[in-house]
Amino acid sequence: MGFKLILVAAFLVGCATAQNYRICIPTTSTQICQNLDNIGSQVICERVETKVDCAIKIARGAADIGIFSEEEIVLLGHQQPSEHRVVASIRDVSRPEPFAFEAVAVVPFNHTGGLEGLRGGKYCHPGFDQNEQRWSPRVLKAFELAVARTDRCPDSSTDRKTAEELEVDTLSKFFTSACRPGPWSANTTVDNDLRNRYPSLCSLCGENANCSRYTLDMGVTVAGIQNTNRHIQALECLRSNNNGTVAYVAWQHVREFFTIRNPQDATSFALICEDGSLRVLTTEVLTSATAPCSFVKQPWSTIVASSSTAAAVQASMREWWPNGANPGGNSWQSVLFNAVIGGANARLTFEDGIPTTQNYTSNVRNFTTITGSSSCIPARRWCTISAQEHNKCTWIRSAAYTLGIEPAISCQQRSNIFECLTDIRDNTADFTVTPSNYGYLSRQHYRLSSVKLVQNSRSNPLAFTRVAALLRESSTQSITRFENLRGKKACFPEFGGISYVAFVRAAHERGVISSSECDYGRAVGEFLDSACAPGALDNSHALTESNYNATNLCSLCKSSVSVAGGNDFTCAYDETNMFYGNNGSILCLADPNSDIAFVELQNIESHLRTAGLQQTDVRMLCRNNTLAASTGVTVDQNCLLAYVVDSEVLARRNDPLLNSLNTMLDSLEMHFGYSAANGAQLINLEMYSPFDGISDLLFKDTAIGLSEPSSESTSEPIKNYNELFQHLESCTGSAAPLPGLATRSFVSFITLIVTSLVVRFVMN
Ligand SMILES: *[C@@H]1O[C@H](CO)[C@@H](O)[C@H](O)[C@H]1NC(C)=O
Ligand SMILES: *[C@@H]1O[C@H](CO)[C@@H](O)[C@H](O)[C@H]1NC(C)=O
Ligand SMILES: *[C@@H]1O[C@H](CO)[C@@H](O)[C@H](O)[C@H]1NC(C)=O
Ligand SMILES: *[C@@H]1O[C@H](CO)[C@@H](O)[C@H](O)[C@H]1NC(C)=O
Ligand SMILES: *[C@@H]1O[C@H](CO)[C@@H](O)[C@H](O)[C@H]1NC(C)=O
Ligand SMILES: *[C@@H]1O[C@H](CO)[C@@H](O)[C@H](O)[C@H]1NC(C)=O
Ligand SMILES: *[C@@H]1O[C@H](CO)[C@@H](O)[C@H](O)[C@H]1NC(C)=O
Ligand SMILES: *[C@@H]1O[C@H](CO)[C@@H](O)[C@H](O)[C@H]1NC(C)=O
Ligand SMILES: *[C@@H]1O[C@H](CO)[C@@H](O)[C@H](O)[C@H]1NC(C)=O
Repeated sequence: MGFKLILVAAFLVGCATAQNYRICIPTTSTQICQNLDNIGSQVICERVETKVDCAIKIARGAADIGIFSEEEIVLLGHQQPSEHRVVASIRDVSRPEPFAFEAVAVVPFNHTGGLEGLRGGKYCHPGFDQNEQRWSPRVLKAFELAVARTDRCPDSSTDRKTAEELEVDTLSKFFTSACRPGPWSANTTVDNDLRNRYPSLCSLCGENANCSRYTLDMGVTVAGIQNTNRHIQALECLRSNNNGTVAYVAWQHVREFFTIRNPQDATSFALICEDGSLRVLTTEVLTSATAPCSFVKQPWSTIVASSSTAAAVQASMREWWPNGANPGGNSWQSVLFNAVIGGANARLTFEDGIPTTQNYTSNVRNFTTITGSSSCIPARRWCTISAQEHNKCTWIRSAAYTLGIEPAISCQQRSNIFECLTDIRDNTADFTVTPSNYGYLSRQHYRLSSVKLVQNSRSNPLAFTRVAALLRESSTQSITRFENLRGKKACFPEFGGISYVAFVRAAHERGVISSSECDYGRAVGEFLDSACAPGALDNSHALTESNYNATNLCSLCKSSVSVAGGNDFTCAYDETNMFYGNNGSILCLADPNSDIAFVELQNIESHLRTAGLQQTDVRMLCRNNTLAASTGVTVDQNCLLAYVVDSEVLARRNDPLLNSLNTMLDSLEMHFGYSAANGAQLINLEMYSPFDGISDLLFKDTAIGLSEPSSESTSEPIKNYNELFQHLESCTGSAAPLPGLATRSFVSFITLIVTSLVVRFVMN
C-alpha cells in the first residue's frame, strides 16, 4: 500500500518535471522559440495565427498556455465560459488595484434627479480616438447606453439609417450640448455627415475644435498631470461648464485631477452611480484605488491554461516567477517573461481558486449575453456554407459583440452558395461573401447587389480573377476570330458564371451576338453548336424566364457516375459532372470533340497537367479578336476576357438596412482587418486570415480588405467588374417591370412602383 503510494507519487513527480507546457506564440515572432529551445526552458512553442486560434487550441487540448488581453478575456468569458482556467492576472507594478480601469461619471455634488436628471444637460467625453486606456466602443458608450438608452429608438424609423446615426440622434435629444470627439463611425462619409447634422454634440469642445479634439484653455501645467490627456480635458470641460454637466472618464484620471490639479474643487463634485445615487469626492474617496461606483470595470489581462493543466501550470509558474516579477538575468524564466508577459513593470498576481474565464470576468465585467441584448437595428444575418465557416463567423460575431460593434451579427449555416443566395433574396438571411463567379447570377436571378468588393493584394495580379479563352491548338486552323465560333463546341465552368458572362461580353463587343438579346441562354445556345455549361437547365441558374430549350448547352457535358442504360447526359453543377468547374472545363477542352474553353486562370498549369495537355496544345483567343502570338497560358493581361475582383459581399438590393450593414462591415474591417492587427488591436482576430488552420473561410486568403463597389473607383479590377454587368443593366433598364433590377437608384425603384400600380389599375 505504502509502496504503491510512493510509486504513484514518484510517477507524478516524474511527470511534473518532465512536463513541457505548450505555450501559444504568434507565427510572427520567429526569434523567441529558438531562444527558448536553446536555453532549455520548460515550455515549447505552439505557433498560432491569432489569439483566437490559441483559445481554440487550448480548449481542444492542443496547447496548454495562452496570454489574453483585457478584451480577449472578456470575449472568452462569453464564448468559452468554462473551457479554460485563469492562472494569473498581469498587472502593472504601480497599479495594484483589481481592475485595469474603471469608467466613472462625474457630476456637480448637488446634482438631483439621478440619471434621468442628466436630461437636457451637458456631456464631456474623452473621445473615440483616445487609446491610452484601451477602451472598446462598448466601454466608450456604456454611460450613454445607461442614461440615454441608445439601444432603444421607439420613435425612429430605421430605414436607410446606420446604427451610428440612430445612436447620435438619441444622444442629441438627451443632452443639449456635448463634446464627444473623434470618429463616430468607421465610415468617413457617415462620420462627416453626422458631424454636420449634430453640431450640438461637438459644441463644448472649444473653438475651432472641429470635434476632432478639445481646444479648451487648460490653464497652467501642473506637474504629474498631462494637460493633453483626453480624460483630464473632459474633466476640465466639466469644471468649466460646471452647472448641469457630466464627464465620463477613467477613475485613475479623476483621482489625478482632483487630488493633484484641482483639490480645492473636489468636494464640489461627485460620482453618479448606475442607480442614480451620488458619492461626493471627499479625500477619503479619492484615496482609494477603486472607485465607489463605476459604469465599467475592466478585468486585467491574463495567463490562461487548459482546465486539465491549470493547477500544474500555476504551481510551475509560482516556481518560475516566485514574486510574480521578471527575475532578470539570462535565465529562460526571464526570457519567457519578457517575451510573453511584459517588461520590468509587469507583475503577475496568481489567481487563487483558478477560476473559469466566466467566473473571472463576470464578477467584474458583466454585460448581457448576445442573445439577450437589445438594439435599434436587428442583427445582420451572415450566411455561411460550411461548419468551419460557421465557426469562424460565430467567433467574429462574438468578438464584434464584445467590442460593442453595431449592428450585431448572427450566423446562419446553409449547405451551398445557392441556398445562401436564395435565403438572402427571400429575406431569411442578409449577406454573404461569394466569389465573383456568381456575380451575374446573384444580380440577375437573385436580385442582389454588392455592398462591398473584396480587395486583393495589388502587388499580386494572380490574386484577381482572370478569365481567358483557350483554343485547342488544332482548332486554330479554323478558328482565328470570335466570328469563327459560330456553330462550334465550347466548354464553360458553369452556366452564368464569370467565364460565361465574359464570353457573352466579348461576343457583344465583336458583334457576333446581338446586344438586344438579353436571354444569355438563348444568345449563346443559338450561336454555338453545343457546349458544356453546367447548370444551364437548373432553376437555380435560370437567367431569365426563357422559353429557350437549353439542352444543347449541356450536350458536351459528361457524367462522372455511370448510369444504367448508358445515357450519361448531365447538366449538374457539381462534381458528378466531369466537366464542371475550371478544372472540368480544361478536361472538356482535352476532349477532341471540343474547340474552346472559357476559364479562370487560377491554377491553370495544374489543370492542364491533370487533363494531359501541354502548354503547346493550347492558344489564347484575345479580347481584341486576335490569336495570341504564342501558345500557352502566360500571355499578357490585355489578352484576357476579364480581369476582375475575385469576390464580393452581397446583400438584397433595396434592403432598407443596407447602410447599416455597410458601416458595420467598415467597423469589422477597422477592428479585424489587416490594418487592425497591430499592438493596438483589442481582440486579436483576423477575419481575412486562415481560421483554426483552415484556409479560405468566409473570405479567401488572398483578401486584404474591403472596398466600395462604386463605379468611380480607380482600381482596374473594380472598374472592370462593374463594366461586366453594364449590358445586364441596359437589358433590365428596358425590360419588363421585374422589381428592383440592376440600377440601384431610388428613382427607378419609384418608377417601378408607379408602373406596377398603373398596371394593376389598368388591369382591374
Ligand atoms: C448647485 O450649486 C451651484 C453652485 O455651487 C449652483 O449654481 C447651482 O444652481 C446648484 N444646482 C442645483 C441643481 O441646485
Ligand atoms: C474642420 O474640418 C473641416 C472639414 O473636415 C476642414 O475643412 C477644416 O479645415 C477643419 N478645421 C480645423 C480648424 O481643423
Ligand atoms: C444652474 O442650473 C439651474 C437649473 O438648470 C439654473 O436654475 C441655475 O441658474 C444655473 N446656475 C448657474 C450658475 O448657471
Ligand atoms: C464559478 O462560479 C460558480 C458560481 O459562482 C461556482 O459555483 C463555481 O464553483 C465556480 N467555478 C470555479 C471553477 O471557480
Ligand atoms: C450578471 O448579470 C446578470 C443579469 O444581468 C445577473 O443575473 C448575474 O447575477 C450577474 N452576475 C454577476 C456575477 O454579477
Ligand atoms: C429540349 O430538347 C431536347 C433535345 O433536343 C429534347 O429531348 C427535350 O425534350 C426538349 N425539352 C423540352 C422541354 O422541350
Ligand atoms: C476539380 O477540382 C475539384 C476540387 O478540387 C475536385 O473535387 C474535382 O474532382 C475536380 N474535377 C476534375 C474533373 O478533376
Ligand atoms: C491584341 O492584343 C494582344 C494581347 O495584348 C496584342 O499582343 C496584340 O498586338 C493586339 N492586337 C491588335 C490588333 O491590337
Ligand atoms: C459609407 O457608407 C455608405 C452607406 O451608409 C456607403 O454608401 C459608402 O460607400 C460607405 N463607404 C465610404 C468609404 O464612405
